Amino acid sequence: MTTTPDLWHHYGRARAERDRGVPGAFRWTWGQDDGPGAEVLGELRGRVVGDLGAGAARQAAHLAVHHEPARVVAVDASPAQYEMATGLFARLAPRLRITRSDAVRHLEAERSTYDVLYSVFGAVDFTDPRELLPAAATALRPGGRLAFATLAHYLNSAPAQPEVVAADIPAKTPEGEETTMRRWVLQEQVWVKALDAAGFTGITVDTFPATSDGPGSAATLLVTAERPR
Ligand SMILES: C[S@@+](CC[C@H](N)C(=O)[O-])C[C@H]1O[C@@H](n2cnc3c(N)ncnc32)[C@H](O)[C@@H]1O
Repeated sequence: MTTTPDLWHHYGRARAERDRGVPGAFRWTWGQDDGPGAEVLGELRGRVVGDLGAGAARQAAHLAVHHEPARVVAVDASPAQYEMATGLFARLAPRLRITRSDAVRHLEAERSTYDVLYSVFGAVDFTDPRELLPAAATALRPGGRLAFATLAHYLNSAPAQPEVVAADIPAKTPEGEETTMRRWVLQEQVWVKALDAAGFTGITVDTFPATSDGPGSAATLLVTAERPR
């Protein structure tokens, strides 16, 4: 049997060795150094919250510790990220629940469960929006909120796509071989149209410019939308 290599094997590994703490702040922007925080998610006390593509679950841990949700479910499909998140934050159970699953599969199994769903350059960036956004709409309770941070342009500065198409971007196998993975980097109006088609309402998009000129810096689109009541 062949298995798909975990292309997130290396991501965040070095940081997890030196930084095991719960972050004191929630940041959306690519540079993680400015912009709004958890208030974008609305009231969280007593709410059921899901992080789609949570990685090491740092943002989810922050919400669990500082915002008194009923629970935060940190969903990630990568075995390596699941293991990392578990090693760092399993101690925050039951308020933080770390789940290894594809986001679409998870959302389809959790109809009308979530008050808030969010993604910080997570599953929303790496999954076909025509699958993920309708699944998110059905997993939210009526009036529930989706918020996500995504790239406003490619990391090599190429412009975002004018329609829903993915690009192959560089990635590495666990063994360090060069490969590619799909990433959806879409113009603002393309996200709005895709969210509208998935049944969302009250769609807002804010753009936060990069705070430095260095390679790998990028502007962030911060998108919010609601499932109609
Ligand atoms: C760039 S990382 C971001 C992680 C985290 N949100 C952060 O800010 O550090 C993207 C994450 O999304 C996860 N991911 C991508 N597509 C996914 C999907 N369809 N379902 C679940 N997780 C997914 C990857 O495994 C990876 O951990």
